[in-house]
Amino acid sequence: MSRFYATTPIYYANGKPHIGHAYCTTVTDAATRFHRLLGDETYFCTGTDEHGQKVQESAEKRGITPQQHVDELQASFRDLWPTLNIEPDQFIRTTEPRHKAVVQRALGQLFEDGLIEKRSFSGWYSTSAERFWTEKDLVDGRCPDTGQEVVWLEEANYFFLMSRFQKPLIEAIETGKMRILPANRANEVLGFLREPLLDLCISRPKSRLSWGIELPFDTDFVTYVWFDALLNYVTAIGGYGAEEDNKAALGDKAAPAGDAGSSFAAWWPNVCHFLGKDILTTHAVYWPTMLMALGLEPPRQYVVTGWWLMADTKMSKSLGNVVDPLSLKDKYGPEVLRWFLLREMAVGQDANFSEAALVKRNNTDLANDLGNLVQRTTAIVHKHFDSQVPALPEGREPSELVESAMALGDYLCGGETTFEETKSAQQIWPVAKTVDELKLHVTLADIMTLVQRLNQVLAQDQPFKTVKTDKDAARVTIYHVLEGIRFAANLLWPALPKTADAILARIGWGEGVLPLSEMSWGELPGGAAVPQGSGLFPRYKLEGDKKPGNQGEKKGGGKAKKASKPKAPEVHIENPIDYEQFMALDLRVGDVLAAEPVKKSKKLLRLEVSLGEMGMRQILAGVAEHLTPEQLVGSKIQVLTNLQPRKLMGMWSQGMMMLAETPEGALVPMRPDGNAPAGSKIA
Ligand code: MSP
Repeated sequence: MSRFYATTPIYYANGKPHIGHAYCTTVTDAATRFHRLLGDETYFCTGTDEHGQKVQESAEKRGITPQQHVDELQASFRDLWPTLNIEPDQFIRTTEPRHKAVVQRALGQLFEDGLIEKRSFSGWYSTSAERFWTEKDLVDGRCPDTGQEVVWLEEANYFFLMSRFQKPLIEAIETGKMRILPANRANEVLGFLREPLLDLCISRPKSRLSWGIELPFDTDFVTYVWFDALLNYVTAIGGYGAEEDNKAALGDKAAPAGDAGSSFAAWWPNVCHFLGKDILTTHAVYWPTMLMALGLEPPRQYVVTGWWLMADTKMSKSLGNVVDPLSLKDKYGPEVLRWFLLREMAVGQDANFSEAALVKRNNTDLANDLGNLVQRTTAIVHKHFDSQVPALPEGREPSELVESAMALGDYLCGGETTFEETKSAQQIWPVAKTVDELKLHVTLADIMTLVQRLNQVLAQDQPFKTVKTDKDAARVTIYHVLEGIRFAANLLWPALPKTADAILARIGWGEGVLPLSEMSWGELPGGAAVPQGSGLFPRYKLEGDKKPGNQGEKKGGGKAKKASKPKAPEVHIENPIDYEQFMALDLRVGDVLAAEPVKKSKKLLRLEVSLGEMGMRQILAGVAEHLTPEQLVGSKIQVLTNLQPRKLMGMWSQGMMMLAETPEGALVPMRPDGNAPAGSKIA
């Protein structure tokens, strides 16, 4: 798709925005930005749904006009988006004249084409529930929803002949012309379509509902709110004669026509509708059949999202300690909330919202992995390289780990690399693939592997040490880590737009975010000024945390505090880590069952190590100059088991043997003093 038109549902302007609205709009914003990175032209719309019974009633209760009511409420949505760093191209309201005109033109055409018919029907009408019921629906002769009285009513209404489009709709879904993600939602719609599709009542008599768009062919009726609302997706890009009105209303923010002749031709049907699972039928059944009846293509893509649940009782109203999830953006900042929403929820599934989970995501992904990486790297640049990006020295090769980070960065951006093998071992995909499938949580996890790898480079190459003994070696490492940070920030921009800009500025990159096709390793200019800056993401702990590193929320919830600074240690600790980082290491006792020298390598021994219930591991240890295979076979060793697997001399090393390095340079295996069976955890 070279043009990507993204829409959110238009939200009812009858209440304040909540986390569900914020989630849907954040996902749409991030997906749109990813498509921009992939080189697509994008247009992103959101807005408010302003007609209908509920709005009319709320306004009456407040003693104001429905227009006054929606004017007020739409602003709370419109004004929210910039505070979450969301940048829609258009905000559409269904009460705007440009939209009313589209709805009336569409209704007029369908009526002329004989696809709308007046029919009278009768049934038990419940005034309290505003709907008809059949005899068998009633409970004790009363409305099954409200328990109130019902009256027998005969009413004429207009029906859209939706049933005629059942077959073409099934075909559009089955052939993938209408792509519904995740796939189980497509099956749900197909399941619904196994039953005969009925015609759709698309009018309401004005005597019952006046707050709606009048039918152009019968002024005693207004149109059903969904018929009105769904058409916003057409109005927004200039369909049904809205192009000129849009230009007048939106100026240069109107959807561009490009070389397509009209803005509608440019953007339709390259649409991707984002919506929650509760409004699937209206979007995937009513809407495409309306479009087909109008002679238009059905939407090309849908992304159906799950629900945020508040299973955590600490958030329940009855306990009186409700935390409004949306208010967490003020407490932790919009970037942290965006990250949590995008990273925590697998697109399409439900997830639990809790403040503790948000704090944890902040602390691990943002403060520890990303923030520390930038902080530690730029600190070395300030201290040892005159606050300038070190230029790469001639004739010095980067370490193998640096090379794997380069390959990973290139691979994520879609470049051809030698990264294939590492990828299949770790299930990492290029961004283009997971974005196409709209699995944004996977995209972000994959990008974070680059951040983690860069942290490993710092831990392995130790530039903070080598800078004192071999400055060129440190130059090579730091240059490449800065380049890796540039790649990571660029790739993370869709999720963390402000943070990405800040990081790029912090590493001396003045060009801003680039399309992935223009990303190429080694473009960061040596000598570029690296400005001073403060920490990007503070770590937080919730009041009531007892154990260090435990980010769990204590009963009753708690206020977030920036973690108070630990007292100055009495001993000098170089590169201190915290408890959580230590606990992330999975150290185990291993039994060495076999060992042999690795061909063509002076340093490496290949070990086969049993970790008990965790199974067997092949470990390549750089000890051949210090230990013989015989000294190791049959003995117990300590193994770091959760280090990323690495390929050495064409073989995978799936763990690291722990060794003490004596001041004389001898390597001594660390062995348990006592009988600890293989697999025992060391902590
Ligand atoms: N006005 C209609 C949409 C018309 S589109 C032509 C509407 N509005 S809404 O304000 O009720 O909801 C909009 C979206 O918010 C839906 O996609 C819905 O799934 C989503 N959410 C509402 N609560 C939610 C959660 N708790 N979690 C995630 N999203 C949920 O429906």
